[in-house]
Amino acid sequence: MQKSTLKKAVFPVAGLGTRFLPATKASPKEMLPIVDKPLIQYAVEEAYSAGIRDMIFVTGRNKRAIEDHFDTAYELETELEKAEKHELLSLVRSVQPDDMTVSFVRQPRSLGLGHAVLCAEHLVGNEPFAVLLADDLMVGPQGGMSVMAQMAEQFQELQQSILAVQEVPAEQTRRYGIVAGEMVGEHLMKVSHMVEKPAPEAAPSRMAVAGRYILTPAVFELLRHQPQGAGGEIQLTDGIAGLMQHESVYAFQYQGKRYDCGSKEGFLEATVELALQHPEVGAYFRNYLDHLQIGWSGKERRAENLER
Ligand code: UTP
Repeated sequence: MQKSTLKKAVFPVAGLGTRFLPATKASPKEMLPIVDKPLIQYAVEEAYSAGIRDMIFVTGRNKRAIEDHFDTAYELETELEKAEKHELLSLVRSVQPDDMTVSFVRQPRSLGLGHAVLCAEHLVGNEPFAVLLADDLMVGPQGGMSVMAQMAEQFQELQQSILAVQEVPAEQTRRYGIVAGEMVGEHLMKVSHMVEKPAPEAAPSRMAVAGRYILTPAVFELLRHQPQGAGGEIQLTDGIAGLMQHESVYAFQYQGKRYDCGSKEGFLEATVELALQHPEVGAYFRNYLDHLQIGWSGKERRAENLER
């Protein structure tokens, strides 16, 4: 049988982003920048690095900025060209490489992540596809492959659905979907069941699902007939659980780091860590933080702790 290659990625960006109000009252959460790049661009670049060229956005109200971001900025480009600001011009143009296509579909109401994915069905068609949640910012190992590129490599072999997972401390299982099953490789598990946000004592493992998936198109049929789950929403997790009744689903423990930028804490962590690595401002920011620590609590707090 001929192997399928991953060509399409779905970016569900129709959520309300209530945890970031008032910032998200009129602008999309996915356009919040980490240093100088919006979250959605990090996710699109990750998909692109995995060989995916067809980017499908599931948008909603107040998400126009995302469409504009991936469109030609005619006036801006003309001005930059006139001013001979070539570097900035190529930076602006690099957002949408020539070989990348973008499509948009609206999710009329926030009926859940599963419903958002289902809205993309007619654009995906009958082929495997990736799902990337832009508020999970994934950084691959230094000099290594991006998380989606690692998953695409696994997919090339397995030709089955794959969920990105990471091991979390026991006290954090309540925040995630937790998978359990049989390890079939060093970083690969064949999933037998999935529990949504279990208490540590009820968690079947500490393998938590992160916002990256590769799914077979069979998931659409399951999502379409799925009854509404928690909060009246159609949950992607329930669709994947249904998929497991018919096909193998794997969990892949990726190399890299996940920042939950849907929460303020994760957003701040990503901002600090990516700013420290930033080629333009990294050295300045490190120096700034060093002085800030001396200026206030850092050393004093450490000394205080030693005295106790
Ligand atoms: P979240 O629940 O984390 O995002 O959904 P949210 O609803 O935007 O944010 P809060 O919780 O109110 O702060 C995870 C992902 O699924 C998308 C979101 O855009 C986000 O990327 N999503 C969620 C949809 O596209 N449609 C939905 O109906 C729900």
